[in-house]
Amino acid sequence: MVFGMFGGKKGGPQFRPMERNDMGGVLRLISQHDEDDFEEAREELREGFEGMFVLADRGKVVGVTGGNVDPHSDDVVWLSWTYVDVERQGEGLGTTLFNSMTGLLKNDGVRKLFINTSDYMDEGEDMYAAARAFYEKMGATLEIQLPDYHAAGEARFTYGLNLTRTPGGSDHPGGGAVRFTGIEELDESDAGWGLIWEEAEGATDPENVDSGLKEQISKARNKGARILFAAVPSDLCANLNQAFGETGFGHHGRLLDYFGPNVHQELGSLHLR
Ligand SMILES: CC(C)(COP(=O)(O)OP(=O)(O)OC[C@H]1O[C@@H](n2cnc3c(N)ncnc32)[C@H](O)[C@@H]1OP(=O)(O)O)[C@@H](O)C(=O)NCCC(=O)NCCS
Repeated sequence: MVFGMFGGKKGGPQFRPMERNDMGGVLRLISQHDEDDFEEAREELREGFEGMFVLADRGKVVGVTGGNVDPHSDDVVWLSWTYVDVERQGEGLGTTLFNSMTGLLKNDGVRKLFINTSDYMDEGEDMYAAARAFYEKMGATLEIQLPDYHAAGEARFTYGLNLTRTPGGSDHPGGGAVRFTGIEELDESDAGWGLIWEEAEGATDPENVDSGLKEQISKARNKGARILFAAVPSDLCANLNQAFGETGFGHHGRLLDYFGPNVHQELGSLHLR
């Protein structure tokens, strides 16, 4: 008892920003899991590692995580590379990493955290099953599954976690319209393309707005796209139902509060081959 009163746990893993010296240790963790992730992370982290954090135990990197600020939405962050040393999994280090990260984001006023993972199978093994179970245990909710997103047969799973309380109230009044102005190839998808949109000016009568969808679909076909994705704000969907229906776009669901409280991101796709 006496010892207990004076005791304290010295050391233990330390959560801190990633430094250049950590690069080897971080890449080692990722390479333990998947060769493709390792190659991708090496390229990405070489460009910079702002927003990345490590868990270091007696000088050795035993965990990594990070957050990327969303370029399209205020106060939204996407979880970045998150790995725990295979020899240290199941000890609670993932929980420490995740809670330390979300604690920092909350302090920074981040409203919502999104997490992407998948159902990638390698030689019969569901590579992200542990990660999906882990994120659910951390309180994140599976908000959408986008079939065939990464490749034919490999879906994107996106989880969401509210970091601040979302103000209540009714949905945004809506009624605005959207116009598709281009397409872009998606980095994380094999021959998957995304539609680029803008808010249609003066769209008082959404019925009269030409969404430009058919033109962009034929562009995507000409580029040899396998699948085309649409991700549009819920308050600008007034003119889209008909256009999506006519062209065969499937609606898969939404990322809640993505663009702001009660303005969601509606996600759909069209197979082109
Ligand atoms: C996912 C990962 C980060 C979890 O780290 P960890 O340190 O093992 O996790 P913890 O020990 O803190 O576990 C917390 C909870 O997550 C869940 N969990 C963790 N690993 C699990 C597994 N293999 N199967 C099922 N649930 C699991 C459990 O509910 C666990 O709580 P419990 O121990 O009370 O049952 C780690 O397994 C990992 O690095 N996986 C490989 C990398 C990866 O897939 N990263 C995600 C890329 S999208």
